[in-house]
Amino acid sequence: MTNIKELIITQPDDWHLHLRDGDMLNSVLPHSENHFGRAIIMPNLVPPVVTSQDAASYKARIENNLSKGSDFTPLMTLYLTEKTDAADVVNAHGSGLITAVKLYPAGATTNSDSGVKNIENVYGVLEAMSDAGVPLLMHGEVTNSEVDIFDREARFIETVLAPLRQRFPDLKMTMEHVTTKDGVDYVKSQDKNLAASLTTHHLIINRNHLLAGGIRPHYYCLPIAKREVHRLALVEAAISGDGRFFLGTDSAPHLAQDKESACGCAGVFSSINTMSCLAHVFEENNALDNLEGFASLNGPAYYGLPLNKKKIRLIKQDTAIEYPEQIDTPNGVVQVFTPGFAFHWSVEILS
Ligand code: NCD
Ligand code: ZN
Repeated sequence: MTNIKELIITQPDDWHLHLRDGDMLNSVLPHSENHFGRAIIMPNLVPPVVTSQDAASYKARIENNLSKGSDFTPLMTLYLTEKTDAADVVNAHGSGLITAVKLYPAGATTNSDSGVKNIENVYGVLEAMSDAGVPLLMHGEVTNSEVDIFDREARFIETVLAPLRQRFPDLKMTMEHVTTKDGVDYVKSQDKNLAASLTTHHLIINRNHLLAGGIRPHYYCLPIAKREVHRLALVEAAISGDGRFFLGTDSAPHLAQDKESACGCAGVFSSINTMSCLAHVFEENNALDNLEGFASLNGPAYYGLPLNKKKIRLIKQDTAIEYPEQIDTPNGVVQVFTPGFAFHWSVEILS
């Protein structure tokens, strides 16, 4: 007897995505387009997307790479620097060009050298954003070399986020790719203007997957995967139906040769199989009913955007289905995230 389950949900969005530029953009974009209605596009290009002009030209490059008839919408962001012009940010948001501004503490992750060294130097911009209702997205890790890499998120909450929330209570903030129980608990303790995105891979891997029995460079990402107790807290938050938690894949493609190296770079590429992975995780936790909230409803509600009109159909197949293990780009291959279980959920966009 076949055991087919079927789920039809509002088309999801990806609230944290790296699309890169040039050949890489061209190679990875179809995989987001095929599933998601919209995505918040990270601005950490080299050089970063800092001004409204940068955002407008990056948006045009993305749109030029969309396939014919695609209605995928890139939601643009600006990379906050200590030189950011508040008026430029407010105007770019007011005109609909950007959706949010991204804070990278300097040196926190891939291409974050131009990030903020001293948060006080951006108070003026944050004040203007708070007044104009421009959301602040945060890479929530401190970068002091004396702080252990596994503690950097918890330390950020204590030393940066909590004081920032006190100073700017009306600024809408998102803690992106939360990886700790500390992060989940902090978000739950706040009743307005704070939400968190969760990645697919952090719901599935812990630090043992990365480090035990051999180092797995394709599981290396930032923030780094933590202990199992933290992964369980993330799953609990994702499946809970709590509107403060939503999907941001943080799908971050790098060439395999750059990850499989003596100093491999951080980032997991998961946009291809994310929805199939999530259906598996939610089913395993008897929470399929809350998948739509996490992937398709909570994000738009938090950002005050309409829901996607399209639906997707997820079907549980008896026989495992295949996703490519890697995708080709003109400069080499990108390894696709492997969750360590067979895929049984197929995904189809309905018009
Ligand atoms: C991201 C990248 O490669 O741009 N890497 C990652 O591990 N997530 C940067 C980021 O979002 O931290
Ligand atoms: Zn990211």
